[in-house]
Parts: sequence; structure tokens; C-alpha cells
Amino acid sequence: MSSTQPAADLNVPDLIQKKRNGETHSAAELSALIGGYTRGKVPDYQVAAWLMAVCWRGMTPQETGDLTISMAESGDLLDLSSLPHTVDKHSTGGVGDKTSLVLTPMLAALGLTVAKMSGRGLAHTGGTIDKLESIPGWNAELSDEAFLEQAREVGLALVGQSRNLAPADGLLYALRDVTATVECLPLIASSIMSKKLASGARSIVLDVKVGAGAFMKTVADGEQLARAMALIGQHAGRNVRAVLTDMQAPLGRLAGNSLEVQEAIATLRGQGPEDLHRLCIELAVEALTAAGFSDNARARAESTLHDGSALAKFRAFVAAQGGDPAYIDDPGLLDVAPGRAEVLAETGGFLNSVDALSVGRAVLVLGGGRERKGEAIDHGVGVELLVKPSEAVVAGQPLLRVYHRQERGLERALDLLRSGVGIGATPPDAAPLILGRIG
Ligand code: URA
Repeated sequence: MSSTQPAADLNVPDLIQKKRNGETHSAAELSALIGGYTRGKVPDYQVAAWLMAVCWRGMTPQETGDLTISMAESGDLLDLSSLPHTVDKHSTGGVGDKTSLVLTPMLAALGLTVAKMSGRGLAHTGGTIDKLESIPGWNAELSDEAFLEQAREVGLALVGQSRNLAPADGLLYALRDVTATVECLPLIASSIMSKKLASGARSIVLDVKVGAGAFMKTVADGEQLARAMALIGQHAGRNVRAVLTDMQAPLGRLAGNSLEVQEAIATLRGQGPEDLHRLCIELAVEALTAAGFSDNARARAESTLHDGSALAKFRAFVAAQGGDPAYIDDPGLLDVAPGRAEVLAETGGFLNSVDALSVGRAVLVLGGGRERKGEAIDHGVGVELLVKPSEAVVAGQPLLRVYHRQERGLERALDLLRSGVGIGATPPDAAPLILGRIG
């Protein structure tokens, strides 16, 4: 991969034709195209045609890397070099995935520095910033100085994507969203990694979700994406490790913003659901290994969830960004919508599936997510899994609990949840949580 100046003689139809014919772009061509688009010199309709050609023809690893560098360099590049052992973590998006809320304070308690940009939820997937904003007073915007200072003092600072980091990705993502070009491996890999490279951390841990609730539906696709992203990071001189994890059913038992903060705090107290607890330990081990501290990593990661050190970091982080720590001490104070409704088992047997996509969509229609950027959301609504896949159930037993506000979206949410539940006569084959690793 190389960084180049935009070519002066940019001919976009030639580039579209080249990709349409399955040819390979040079770094200069990609830089010119991305630079031109970011500056408003290339219209959406030409880039849309080019994106579709990329979806059909693909990109070589070299092209994907060059595209990523051009996107990363389309805005500011954060300089974290003054901070010790910087590590970033990214999930490709899931349902009930509150891992960042637990993992990042664990890493800070272990002596690493997390200075990270996080996203809001989009479509059926949740976002870390939305979850944190259910804590009264917590603020996702920090000046550059405050961000670096907090990272140095607390070891953990999380901000929203308001900075001028990888602006080309923002533009391209919005265009991909409306031109059926989101699900395309080189475009997903470059989108994620451009933001990671611009964010400046030396080590990067990627949680690549696979299954019904994820972009990648099969392990083979997830592995390809993980390898592509790891290669980009390695070429850019970063330590990258990726873990492929199951997203067939939601992670943990709670989905919805306030509810997920409550479950994250329980996990930080060592009392979280088994799958979430285990995933946080696995990712912490990967992060420690990436940062060069693999000795005794598992035991050290585990101890942060039992000795109060990760919880203390989370409390300090929330307070540093204006949040009221009383809500961390007593998460029952968080606003949870008062309405309750339940989905009951129609027959007895074993719970074979709870479709993550259906749960994510149910939270969305209840008002807990947004269908359009910038929409206000209700942090208090959500869904609780009263039973997890493979557990035995009897007819009439409540399986899922809906937390709703004045029945907004309730009927639709219940329909979605009912359609996503499967009960069988025998337990399903045990689905492993960790589906693979790329290091
Ligand atoms: N997440 C991103 O940031 N970009 C994609 O293209 C897909 C998921």
C-alpha cells in the first residue's frame, strides 16, 4: 500500500469502465477518485456506478489496501503516539452486543489505553454511543485536548464520530446504503479499517460477527473479511487480531440501550451472562496479546471482572465524560420503559433458536433504534431473553419479555419476536461462541 497525491487528470468514466471490465486500479487512481469524491468534485452517480462495479468484480488485496489508505487520509489522522499501549476494538455489528462497555474498562484496568471513536446504532444493530447516552449526563463529544487528557488520566475515552476522521467513509457509506452496495467485502473491509487507521491505535482487535444478526452470514465469509482487514492493518504497521463470533442469537439476555448498560454493569461486577462474560475475556486476551502482554493474559483479564478494577474504570470514565456515577452504583435507576408484554412458548420442548435479526428489528420498532440518521431514540425500550437457546421450555412459558412505552410498536415487535423463535423436540447442536481466530 502506498500513499499518493490525487492524479490531476481524473477521468471517472475510464475508472468505472476499467473496474467494470475486471481490471485493477492503481493506488494513484483510487486516491484521485476518493479525493475527488470527498471534495465534491465527483458526483454520486459516478461513484455509485463504480461501487456496483466493485461489488461485481471485487478488488485485489493491494487495491483494498490502497483504497483504505485513501479513505483514511481523506480527513484528519489522530496522533495517539504520546499514549502508552493504545488499543482499539471494533465489532462488525450485532444485537445485544454491549461488549465494548465491558471490554474497554477491562483493558484500561489492565494498563492499556483505549482512546476510541464509537458509532451509534444503525438499522437493527445497536451502537455504543447510544447505549452510553442512556446514562444521564454522559457526553459523547470531547475536544481533542480533553480526549487525549482523559485517555492519559483514566486510560479510557470514547467519543462519537463527529470528528473529521475518514470523511470519505461517511460519504461512501451513505451512498452504499441506498445503492445496494453495502454487502461487498472490499468495501466493508476498507470502510472499517479506514476509521481504525485514522483513529491511530497501535493495536486493533476485531470482533467479526457471523450469523442471522450480522452482515456476514457464514463463517467462510466472516473469515474472508477478517483476513482482509487483518492484512490491511498489518500493511499499515498495526498489530491486528480478529475473532469470529456467533451472532445467530443475541449476545447476553438484554437488547436495548438502558437494559444493555444494566447488563454490562452486572458483567463488570462478575455477574454477567456466560456468553458475554466469555466473549469479553476472549477479546481481552486478544488485545493483551496484540499489545505484547500475553503472559498470564486470561487470568489477568478474568480478575478485572472480580476484583472491581474494571468496574472502577468504567465509573471513572463515565464521570469524566459528565455522566452521573450514581447510575453505575445503582443501575436500577436507569430509565427502563414501564410497559411489559411477553412472548409465550406455543409448545413444550427445547428452545432451538432466537433470531438475532428479529430481536434487533423488534427493538427498532419499539423506538430503541433509528431507521434514519439523526432520529431521536427511546433508550428505555428493549427485549429480554427469559430463556436462552438449548434450554428446555414448557407450553405457555414466557420466552421473551418486551419493555415498551405506551405500546408504541408493540404489536409489530411481538410479531417479529414470535416469528424469530424456534422450539424443537430435541436440543439444538451446541453453537460455539468463538468460530475462529485470525492473528
Ligand atoms: N461497519 C462499517 O463501519 N462499515 C461497513 O461497511 C459495514 C459495517
